[in-house]
Amino acid sequence: MTAPPIERILFTEEQVSARIREVAAEISLKFYGRELKLVGVLKGSVFFLTALARAIDLPVKIDFLAISSFGGDTPGMVRIAKDLDDPIQGEDVLLVEDIVDTGLTTRYLLQTLAGRAPRSIAICTLLDRTVRRMVQVPVDYRCFEIPDRFVVGCGLDYKQLYRNLDYIAVLNPDRG
Ligand code: IMP
Ligand code: MG
Repeated sequence: MTAPPIERILFTEEQVSARIREVAAEISLKFYGRELKLVGVLKGSVFFLTALARAIDLPVKIDFLAISSFGGDTPGMVRIAKDLDDPIQGEDVLLVEDIVDTGLTTRYLLQTLAGRAPRSIAICTLLDRTVRRMVQVPVDYRCFEIPDRFVVGCGLDYKQLYRNLDYIAVLNPDRG
């Protein structure tokens, strides 16, 4: 396999898995004695969600939704392309994201899911790029804050590639 067009590694596989374990421990403590439903956003959050789920010491359910954007390059113009399989009414829901960037996607999902009467809803993201935030969203758990650079790996893609890298890296601006 040819090497991916990577400028530098931000977080190694070891750093990512260690941090996921820390966040999972925090979540396990917070929801002690309860069941938790992890809601993943396809496809970016899949790798993070499965690692997180295995590290959480609680009875966990998982479900997924997919979004598609209809505004071209306009951020935040999203709709649900594949909905959850099951209702979330009365459940403690953790929305699991790959990255919160402008916050527009997360805010839309939060509002949509909150309208379904869950017992509680919280946000957990692998990456947080607060410098680009356009709307405030309550990020309850995050693994890493990142600088204003495009990153790939651990679920994050560039043109659907590089999701399977087990580290998080800044993509080479020349994009190989
Ligand atoms: P937001 O609505 O601007 O917060 O967009 C979040 C979505 O944009 C994420 O779920 C990712 O799919 C995508 N995204 C934002 N930044 C990056 C990046 O650096 N690499 C890969 N995907 C990204
Ligand atoms: Mg993407």
